[in-house]
Amino acid sequence: MRFLITAGPTREAIDPVRFLSNRSSGRMGYALAGAARHEGHEVCLISGPTSLDVPEGVDFLQVESAKDMYEAVRDMQRGVQVAILSAAVADYRPVAVAMQKIKKDEGEMVLRLERTPDILGSMRSEFGYGGVLVGFAAETQNLLENARKKLERKGCDMIVANDVSRPGIGFDSSMNEVTLVTKDEELHLSKDTKEHIALAIVRRALEFIS
Ligand code: C5P
Repeated sequence: MRFLITAGPTREAIDPVRFLSNRSSGRMGYALAGAARHEGHEVCLISGPTSLDVPEGVDFLQVESAKDMYEAVRDMQRGVQVAILSAAVADYRPVAVAMQKIKKDEGEMVLRLERTPDILGSMRSEFGYGGVLVGFAAETQNLLENARKKLERKGCDMIVANDVSRPGIGFDSSMNEVTLVTKDEELHLSKDTKEHIALAIVRRALEFIS
């Protein structure tokens, strides 16, 4: 099988030396790429900036912004049977990127933001992707309810729901605890390494291919 996996944060430029980003380490996505490869599959990993080593045998594309990641996923999703979009894509980016470093001034500064493209939401409707589609939902409240809405709205087969308000799991941690939300069930995976969680996600995703 051929897998496409997104990982890591995106960076949205403010000026040549500043950007908006988030605390994603990329570990969950890299663990997914490693797990899929370990199971004998072809893997294309599209990642924002991280400090991680790329798992051996994985095709790797490094991107910076949400727009870069959108274009890379659009171009690479053809021929893919399983897409797992675990990147923490920035939802907003500055409307304009300053050409020169912004100088400080007295008083407040206002930064106008606009929405970035929704990569997961574009898979079915814009890219015509027909394979297994897995998204992530990192929430601090109403986790399962939001995951189920996302499952339907974005045409996913499974949402990996992740409570990022809890210390010791999720963002910037080597451990995770998630619930796999599908149309018919909610499967809770108790706290474990991201490598073990990744293997369970990969195996569950493959069950959609019969
Ligand atoms: O709606 P929310 O951002 O919480 O959705 C998270 C899921 O959507 C993750 O799977 C993430 O990779 C994906 N996503 C995306 N493009 C965006 C924002 C999120 O693919 N612009």
